[in-house]
Order: sequence, then structure tokens, then C-alpha cells
Amino acid sequence: MLQISPALFLMTGERNPGIILVIMEQTKIRNFCIIAHIDHGKSTLADRLLEITGTIEKRKMKAQILDQMDLERERGITIKLQPVRMQYRGFELNLIDTPGHVDFSYEVSRSLAACEGAILVVDATQGIQAQTLANVNLAIEHNLVLVPVVNKIDLPNAEPEKTALEMKETFGFADDDILFVSAKTGENVEEILQKVIAKVPAPRGNAAAPLQALIFDSKYDKHRGVVAFIRVVSGQIVTNDSILMMVQQANAQALEVGYFAPELRKNEELTAGEVGYVVTGLRDVAAARVGDTITQSKMPAAQPLPGYKEIKPMVFASIFPTSGDDYHILRDAMEKLKLNDASLTFEPENIPSLGFGFRTGFLGLLHIDIVQERLSREFNLDLVLTAPTVAYVVKKHDGSELTIYTPTELPDLSAVESIAEPWVGLHVLTPEKYLGSIMSLVTGRRGVYKSTSYLGPGRLNLHFEVPLSNIISDFYDKLKSVSSGYASMNYEVLDFRVADLVKVDILVAGDRADALSFIIHQDFAEAEGRRTVEKLKTLIPKQFFSVALQAAIGSKVIARETIAALRKDVTAKLYGGDVTRKMKLLKKQKEGKKRMRQVGRVEIPQAAFLALMKK
Ligand code: GTP
Repeated sequence: MLQISPALFLMTGERNPGIILVIMEQTKIRNFCIIAHIDHGKSTLADRLLEITGTIEKRKMKAQILDQMDLERERGITIKLQPVRMQYRGFELNLIDTPGHVDFSYEVSRSLAACEGAILVVDATQGIQAQTLANVNLAIEHNLVLVPVVNKIDLPNAEPEKTALEMKETFGFADDDILFVSAKTGENVEEILQKVIAKVPAPRGNAAAPLQALIFDSKYDKHRGVVAFIRVVSGQIVTNDSILMMVQQANAQALEVGYFAPELRKNEELTAGEVGYVVTGLRDVAAARVGDTITQSKMPAAQPLPGYKEIKPMVFASIFPTSGDDYHILRDAMEKLKLNDASLTFEPENIPSLGFGFRTGFLGLLHIDIVQERLSREFNLDLVLTAPTVAYVVKKHDGSELTIYTPTELPDLSAVESIAEPWVGLHVLTPEKYLGSIMSLVTGRRGVYKSTSYLGPGRLNLHFEVPLSNIISDFYDKLKSVSSGYASMNYEVLDFRVADLVKVDILVAGDRADALSFIIHQDFAEAEGRRTVEKLKTLIPKQFFSVALQAAIGSKVIARETIAALRKDVTAKLYGGDVTRKMKLLKKQKEGKKRMRQVGRVEIPQAAFLALMKK
């Protein structure tokens, strides 16, 4: 039933004289999302739903979507990731798309909190994958009703029955719960909408209560400031209302209110149960963060909606422009990106060997990739990223604790009582035959095996605990290669655990090259130190004196290589002969020097640093 008091209705009418409010009955609203492992067909399915509901005409489908993508790309959100309101047989269906990856599980969980149901899509050629499980668990935590779908049944190698069996055994679905569809051809897709209407409960917020609207996403519009995407849980919001972001305590005005068509469409007001947007005019995205609650300044709700938590970056890397001249462009680009991505944190950094750049915190590896991709695509920047590292918690003998993000921040070891590193719970889904190689891969990275469960015949869900630092570099690639591409993974951060960690310094002719220091577990220090000096030996050109390359823990050298001195007088060719040729050689040498970095007496080509530091 529609829950709105006459008083509130009147009040709205008074504020907007002449406007006839059409308030959707909550029983006719369904809010849902689509959850799936990456590439299982979420976006393709969303396209079909838009067509079937006539939200976007079939013949306009491609053109319109591409047009908007160009526009949206500048703002960093593709049309496919945008929420959309669809009308179908008298119902208002709000589809809230969610990012599918673990790095964004915080955002996924916010989106889920804005829905009552989720379409669960599983690819019939792949079966359940790691992110399927992770997303289903999140959906269950949020009490969402699931509408299970086996997708890609048109493919010759599809195994719909096997996939359905796996879904029934893993999640307990009944036979007639599961729909078999092809998002590509549209086969059976309309049945999904009917199932959503029949199974997903209508929202049940109180429109007469004070406003509580959950921000599940936001974007930045350079003319109108932050546009918050909201799910109104209770109360209502009308254009020109004075609003308050309850967690950030930021005040603003609702300059415009509306819904997603999928482009922004003005609608005067949004009421309990509805999904839409509010233009805030705020210049700082952090002031209207995902997860915050919007209320009325004049009649605020007693408390924000539950679950808001600050997200902390877990993985760190430094970003440098390949050309020092691009530093200012990079700084601008990072600031613009932050407007769209409140989870991005960075601070200026100057590494003598690489110049000026930014020490940047990310939510995970995919986040790094996305940020790098966006910086280079949207801002046309050529970048160098250092290998990702994690944060460490250092406890000192005097009882104080500090969190460090680079090896150079590590205090003198005589003052250090312990160093702790982040651990994660790692889930690997794999066909049984790769069990052995996956076990040795994970345990070789200091992982601890915890348990196994079966996902239908021949498919395993392995659970490990492993230090985050040991899976951030090339673990995913290795996992894919030992499982011929079949295994998928997911992880969640557990806690910080004290370990036998050491700082390894790299010395070049007796001088420390700070940028090359690293923190590592004692058991791996020697091998990694050796690998580094061996690699460095191939990268530094010979000098007129012999150069010792050493890896050391404190004063103890753990690996050593020597670059023999040059014997031939290479400058000979600079004397005599054609003057212009000599000048050319000198010029070339000078340009080369610009790209050299001095470590003590030795000039190291920047390329050598890059080769060692790059991810
Ligand atoms: P991300 O956006 O990467 O998370 O993936 P997604 O889950 O949105 O998948 P998307 O819709 O991009 O589909 C991935 C690939 O599968 C695309 O090449 C689609 O064309 C294809 N695909 C999706 N559904 C079907 C289907 O029903 N049949 C066939 N044959 N291909 C499909």
C-alpha cells in the first residue's frame, strides 16, 4: 500500500505549486541488480532488458549506447554501469548495475543495499566462478531474493543442465527456479522480468518518515558538482530541499532530482522505495560518498542507514610520468580521477631515480589496472607504475605503533619490536585436476591451506589464508597458467599478522639505491636479493672501475655480483675525424645522460630502475 500522509503530500504541493505529483505505489516498484562473474553476460542481459521494456528502442540501441559511452567515458562511467528505470506492464523496474569485481565489493555491497532482489547470471560454458560465489554471499548477507539464470545457452559448448545442477547444489535452488536464457539472442529473457516481478519483494519504506536516502554511487559533473545516485529508503526528496549528508556532515541543496532513463531525467521528487539521482552542487566528491545517507537538513532522520564504513586502501604503488614534463598533467589527471573515484588516495612523491610522481593507494590489483588504464586512455599519459606493495604495521620497543607504506619509512631496526603484514582469505575455484599445482603455488607463497568444498562433480572451492604481499604481484597470472585458465579467485582482507620480515637494501658500489629497497619475509630475502642484483648486473653498463652490486639486510650482505671494469678506451672514437660527427656523438651522449641517474659514483640508466621497479 502507498504509505504517504496527506500532510506530507500537501507540503510537497505547496513547495512546487502547479505540479501534479504522480507517486508510484511501492507495490508497483521492484529494485534489483544483476550479479555475475566477469564476462558472464551481465551487460548484454541489461541491454536486452532495456530493449524488451522499450526503454531504449532496438534500432537505436547501438547508436545511443555508443554516443553516451563517449560522453560518459569522459566522466568515467560507462552507460552500462548506470542504473536505469524501466517501465514494464505497469511496474517501475529499477535496475542498479553493480561492479562485479572483488576490489569493488564495498561498492557492490552498497548497491546491493539499494535493492530487494538480484538476477544471478552464470555462464553455461563456465559454471560458477569465484566472483559468482563472492557476490552471492554478499547478496545473501543483504537478504536479497535471487533470480537464478543460466546464460549463453545458444553456444555449442554450453552445458546448461550441468551448470544448473551446480547452482542447485551450491545455492539450494529448486528445479523450477532456474531460467535458461541467451542474453545474446534474447531467448527467454522476458521471463526474467516476470520472475523479478513475481519473486522480488516490493520496497516497504515509510514515505511519511524523515528522509533517509542511501548514496550507492556518484559522479562528478563539472557544471553542477556531485550528482549522487540514491535509493530513497524512507521519506521523500523534492527539488530545492536543503539536504545533509549524515556521515560527512556536508550540507547542500537538491538542485535537481530525477531518475535514470538511462540519461538523467528531471522528476521534481523521489519518494520512499524509489531509485534516482540528486544534483548537489557539491564540489568535493568525498562530501557525498558512496554509502552515506542523505536526509533533510530541517527534519533530519535520527541516524544514517547502517553499514557505512571508511574504506582503506590495501595496495600501494607509485605512479610516475615517463617524461618528467608530464608531471603537471598527471597531477591534474589524478585530481580529476579522484572526483569520480573517492577511494583513490595519493600524495606527491619524489624518488631521485624516477623524479616526481604520486604514491597511490588502491583497493586492490584490479583497481590499479583500472586507474592506470583510465589515466593513459582518458588523459593520454605514458606512465610508469612501480611494483605494488602493501602497508606494514611496525611496533616499536617504546610501545608506539606506526603504519608504513614504503621501505624507507621503516625505523632503525634496533628500535623495532615487530612488523606485521596484512593477510587475506583466498578462495580458489578450480576443476579438481589442478588441485596439486594450485596447492603448491599457494603454499609456495606462504599460504596456509584451510578447507575444501565441492561445487558439483569435479569442481572444488579451495580456501586458503595467505599474506597479501605474496599474491599482489604475479599470482593471478600464475594461477591462470597452472590451471590452463580454468581457476578463478577471490580474496578478502582478514587482519595484520606479525611475521619475520626484513628490509633488503640494494647497494651499488657501496651506495644504497633507496628506490630499490624492499620489505620481504626472511625466508625469501636471499633469493629475491640475488635475483635483483643479477638482474641489475645485466642492466647497468660497464664503468671505468669495477662495480659491486650487493643485496644486504642491515650490514649483512646476502647476495653479491660484480660488474667488471671497462678495459677498452671507448672515448677514443671521439677524437679526430669529422667534427660534425663528433658533435653528433657528444649530443647523443648528452641526451643519454639525461636519462641516467646517479647512485654514488655510478650512473644508472633510468631504464634499469624501471625494469626492476615496474609491475
Ligand atoms: P563485464 O562487463 O566484463 O563484467 O562482463 P559482463 O558480465 O557484463 O559480460 P558482457 O555482457 O560484456 O558479455 C561478455 C561476453 O559474452 C561478450 O562478448 C558478449 O557478447 C558475450 N555474451 C553475453 N551473453 C551471451 C549469450 O547469451 N550468448 C553468447 N553467445 N554470448 C554472450
